[in-house]
Amino acid sequence: MSQKRVIKIGLCGLGTVGQGVWKHLSAHRARLEARLGVKLELHRVSVRDLKKQRAVKVPAAKLTTDSLAIANDPEIDIVCELIGGTGLAREVTLAALARGKIVVSANKALLCKHGAEIFTAARKSGGHFFFEASVAGGIPIIKALREGLVANRFRLIYGILNGTCNYILTRMALEGAPYAAILKEAKALGYAEADESLDVEGWDTAHKASILAFLAHGVWIKTEQMIVEGIDRVTQADISTAATLGYGIKLLAVITRDFDTDEVFVRVHPTLVPKGKVLANVNGVFNGIAVAGDVVGTTTYIGRGAGQDATASAVIGDLVDAVTLLTTGKAVALGDDETGSATRSGRGVRLASLDHVTSRYYIRMTVKDQPGVLAQIANVTARQHVSIASVIQTAAEPANAASLILTTHHSNERAIRSTLARLAQLKSVLEKPLLLRIGDFEE
Ligand code: NAP
Ligand code: HSE
Repeated sequence: MSQKRVIKIGLCGLGTVGQGVWKHLSAHRARLEARLGVKLELHRVSVRDLKKQRAVKVPAAKLTTDSLAIANDPEIDIVCELIGGTGLAREVTLAALARGKIVVSANKALLCKHGAEIFTAARKSGGHFFFEASVAGGIPIIKALREGLVANRFRLIYGILNGTCNYILTRMALEGAPYAAILKEAKALGYAEADESLDVEGWDTAHKASILAFLAHGVWIKTEQMIVEGIDRVTQADISTAATLGYGIKLLAVITRDFDTDEVFVRVHPTLVPKGKVLANVNGVFNGIAVAGDVVGTTTYIGRGAGQDATASAVIGDLVDAVTLLTTGKAVALGDDETGSATRSGRGVRLASLDHVTSRYYIRMTVKDQPGVLAQIANVTARQHVSIASVIQTAAEPANAASLILTTHHSNERAIRSTLARLAQLKSVLEKPLLLRIGDFEE
């Protein structure tokens, strides 16, 4: 009987995700080996701190602090980059690709910043880069866009892409729990990034949106070219007011393409989602993505978007595809340009002007509660051609102040920006207004 081929895997990073991969790959090894017809060996594992106590027990002989040694080890076939960040992670990825290895990554920040460089390096060396775990945790959205929906063009993709923010907003809405305490819990549960500002300020969602936009439209949109706003200024009062108006508040990524003008735009912002929409009811650490395809119509994907097990599921899915590629030479779902976006040429695609990015808006202001204030505000909105749909006024701190919530009819990002800047200059407006979008998307 012939000896089974041994596929050697190097694991760089043994934190939340790395430990999940070790745990579940160990538990499911026999079944996966039988399916793949190979033996799988977790050959070496890199960490920063060799002495750290961990939930999984890795033999000391396999541990190293030298991630680049793993990337360069000629015995290792697949390198799993689960370190995070864009420094060492980039070096490890490029070193492994240069040696023609397959890299499996969960690192959306790296891909957003250096995606073009990584795919070029893979093409040049014959290496491969798999990244299912980088977007929406356990939901196979990358596979869906590259494989299942390949017949489609995408006018609109929008969704909840950050588990930490959705966990925070859900607990604030359902329990009135305080923001800081829930964020602490999300960190303890392994949902948040090492730098949690990436989550709550919207950057992590922006990184993921950039990856989806690339797969859907063949262009890398940088975070500087997007609108990126986080959840850190959303209050319990906003959540209650939105509920009264018939909405839940979700941090959404919205990726649009106008096929008449070939304009794309990516934005990330807390959004009022009508309660009847599926995504308004996607709660806790779950993510949800609605993809409007021109052939299939809208398909929606829901699942755990962060955490050890969900992310390990996506990484192991990629490992299985990587082994299939090594043993059969067949790349699952990859196009001839390696990225899977071969059918999505970015040629001719341009960034939409802010005048063409439209929405309805929710503006919350703390104002002096005195005669004429509403008229001043209405004067500003009228001059910017922003039409008010409703006004709600409640008492606010300090004394003699009021909280004023305006909703608008459809306007555009340029008009709303200058409206906000002018409102902030009014003496009667006591703090920087908060802007939320109203997400009544046409699917
Ligand atoms: P984490 O818990 O902070 O783990 C990072 C790991 O990298 C740790 O084991 C750490 O070693 C190791 N490391 C850091 N610097 C190193 C260095 N200089 N040399 C060697 N090892 C080093 O992070 P994570 O949550 O597992 O996330 C890993 C990646 O997955 C990130 O790109 C993240 O964005 C992505 N991701 C995370 C999730 C999630 O739910 N957590 C979901 C999807 C994607 P020590 O343990 O010794 O400190
Ligand atoms: N911090 C990320 C989140 C991890 O909360 O969604 C999953 O990418």
